[in-house]
Amino acid sequence: MSHNTIETNRRMNKFDSHDSVWLFGYGSLIYKADFPYIERRPASIANWARRFWQGSHDHRGTPEAPGRVVTLVPEPGAVCHGMAYLITPAVFAHLDYREKNGYLRFASEIVFDDGGSAEGLVYIATSDNEAFLGEDSEQAIAQHIARSSGPSGPNRDYLLSLAMALREMGKHDPHVFEIERHLGDLKD
Ligand code: SIN
Repeated sequence: MSHNTIETNRRMNKFDSHDSVWLFGYGSLIYKADFPYIERRPASIANWARRFWQGSHDHRGTPEAPGRVVTLVPEPGAVCHGMAYLITPAVFAHLDYREKNGYLRFASEIVFDDGGSAEGLVYIATSDNEAFLGEDSEQAIAQHIARSSGPSGPNRDYLLSLAMALREMGKHDPHVFEIERHLGDLKD
């Protein structure tokens, strides 16, 4: 699969005729909403776990020295907390560009923290994309993040912004917080 998922995502047109659609964000989409939205609500999706296993060639690293960003990996029983945004399909072009380094649009059930659920979209970089880096220890991931940087800035800012956003939402993610702790240890 190519690094650039824009064309594939354009063909994923399930929601294109809808007036509005819910988008679930679990990484930078939680803390950086650089697109118009109608409303947003804290939410979760089931059977997926957030992991810093995706390489970033275009935001927090380069093709020669990729950074590490989050994707979702299947995990029965897991619940991933994030932010749902109600958007119009006109926003897809911007999102497809932003998430082009391996992320594909998937349809998923989104459960709102304040009740109810809806079918919506989530961008997931699956293990068969070329930028996928896969599992490593949380300490090694922190070391990788500490030395990485790309056009969107230092990789550490991505991690720290995500950890802060989750904390502000009252959500505990042991994987993210453990990497943050190791990153803090590196600075001492
Ligand atoms: C997301 O935030 O939902 C996708 C991954 C990212 O852009 O960081």
